[in-house]
Amino acid sequence: MRSSRIAPHSHIRGLGLDANGLVVADMAGFVGQDMAREACGVVVSLIKSRRFSGRALLLAGAPGTGKTALALAISQELGPKVPFCPMVGSEVYSAEVKKTEVLAEMFRRAIGIRIKETKEVYEGELTELTPSEAENPLSGYGKTISHVVIALKTVKGTKQLRLDPSIYEAIMKEKIVVGDVVYIEANTGAVKRVGRSDAYASSFDLESETYVPLPKGDVHKRKELVQDVTLGDLDNANARPQGGQDIMSVMSHLVKSQRTEVTEKLRREVDRVVKGYVDQGVAEIVPGVVFIDEVHMLDIECFTYLNILLESPMAPTVVLATNRGTSLVRGTTDIVSAHGVPVDLLDRCLIVKTESYTREQVAKVVELRATVEGLSLGDGVLDRLSAEGARRSLRYSLQLLTPASILATLQGRKHITLEDVGEMNELFLDAKASAEAMA
Ligand SMILES: Nc1ncnc2c1ncn2[C@@H]1O[C@H](COP(=O)(O)OP(=O)(O)OP(=O)(O)O)[C@@H](O)[C@H]1O
Ligand SMILES: [Mg+2]
Repeated sequence: MRSSRIAPHSHIRGLGLDANGLVVADMAGFVGQDMAREACGVVVSLIKSRRFSGRALLLAGAPGTGKTALALAISQELGPKVPFCPMVGSEVYSAEVKKTEVLAEMFRRAIGIRIKETKEVYEGELTELTPSEAENPLSGYGKTISHVVIALKTVKGTKQLRLDPSIYEAIMKEKIVVGDVVYIEANTGAVKRVGRSDAYASSFDLESETYVPLPKGDVHKRKELVQDVTLGDLDNANARPQGGQDIMSVMSHLVKSQRTEVTEKLRREVDRVVKGYVDQGVAEIVPGVVFIDEVHMLDIECFTYLNILLESPMAPTVVLATNRGTSLVRGTTDIVSAHGVPVDLLDRCLIVKTESYTREQVAKVVELRATVEGLSLGDGVLDRLSAEGARRSLRYSLQLLTPASILATLQGRKHITLEDVGEMNELFLDAKASAEAMA
């Protein structure tokens, strides 16, 4: 049996909304929380139509009411092409990096750039490789390569090319021989070995070679390449430029700099060049999402900086989550505010509240989790767990599930019984009971 690690939110597959943005009961693993899901749906469509950047959504509600789950569902609805950068408020406290720098970097990583490029390439199976030698004009000895003639074959036909000696060197370096399928970029001369042609496939069971089919179409063709990077990638690449001929390394020379650190100046340069590409129609900006969970952990300096980040022209969407009610803003001694977030930031947020769960809803979530974790529940177990959940918390009843299943396995049973749950209930306390016991 293949066992895999099960994450706390692995049953959540999206917000579970229909085409009109209305909640479909229990779809995509999400139970209840209708208002919050629909609100998040609106935000998702605003993000998709690029009308929400520079704004913030605040998810507020009691612990275990699905705020983190909602944020994950938002990222799933947006799909993998939209950058989604999750972090926890406390991540800003590092001994090496400034708090504001952590936030700034996160914001840069959440701005995607889609670069479209048309490349002229030659592609095909190498059928001929003939270097021509010439007398070396510099010394009387030895010979140099003056040019190289190669032939490339595709399904459609064969083409002979006369190429520069530097390409011959690249071919040697890639250890390309007749029978390999290769890929040569016309404007840079970059050579790539795609694999060995299918025609040479042998019948070994185990081998390191990759066989590829003969390319279709003409040998000489135009290819449309799309690459997704983020502003953060470009900052880093420009801070540590490396050689190479692919698009990433070309992009990494946008800015001529010998720096090895991402500075504010470098970022501005990168922004300027990217803007130029956008104006030329080569690149497109895809604003993503920064998700800051437990946002009350940020302090007043971070909050002020967040305000500034939100107002910058290339700002991503910001999703915040907190389970605090009215509390002291961290880093101050006297500013008390709702959710521990200063009023000026709150003022920029759309606030969505998560509700606590009814007994039926807890039962549904427990059932979902049991399925995901591959557990079967005996008579009355679901009832008992959902009663515990409604009385104490959803998390507590989810938490009981796994230890109870271990107890059941120890006793050689396939399903969890009421006794297992009872025993676990005695062994493990919920937060309230534990606090009472200490008092
Ligand atoms: N409506 C729901 N449908 C399905 N599963 C849910 C729902 N709400 C919460 N859960 C699950 O319950 C658990 C707790 O929820 P989650 O971690 O999202 O709470 P939270 O609001 O972020 O709490 P905290 O404030 O403590 O961070 C998770 O495993 C989550 O997937
Ligand atoms: Mg959470």
